[in-house]
Amino acid sequence: MAHKLLLLNGPNLNMLGTREPEIYGAETLDGLVAALKAYAAEKSIEVRDYQSNIEGELVTAIQESRHWADGIFFNPGAYTHTSVALRDAISSVDVPVIELHISNVHAREPFRHKSMLSAVCLGVIAGFGRNSYFLAIDALERHLNNSG
Ligand code: DQA
Repeated sequence: MAHKLLLLNGPNLNMLGTREPEIYGAETLDGLVAALKAYAAEKSIEVRDYQSNIEGELVTAIQESRHWADGIFFNPGAYTHTSVALRDAISSVDVPVIELHISNVHAREPFRHKSMLSAVCLGVIAGFGRNSYFLAIDALERHLNNSG
């Protein structure tokens, strides 16, 4: 079964590789996206990717995904902790969304412990470094194949 997934990255994730590498790793977003697409292709899964620093552009990407995507894996960055607009966008579409984080947000500052989005997502993956993205693909694949 060939699924189509949207990989969404929010603010500051275009800075991967140079941004706080002790927290977020040394790999660039381009390198990570290429590795994720290759990993997904082995499973016959198509990944389309989009990154924006702008909240409304992420809202639009979620809205548009309803026309083609079977699932979304989303690192919302700091908007995780603030965005009612993204929460409403996720609630507005009938597409399962996995919220993911590179870092373990629960081991960090208290303001990162609260997510506006988790309650309307299928699930949350956090703290596994770049592997959080790969685990999200696995989780969506299993969900879409009704095997979990
Ligand atoms: C993040 C965690 C957020 O708290 C932070 O604002 C980010 C990245 C992560 O991937 O660990 O930008 O989503």
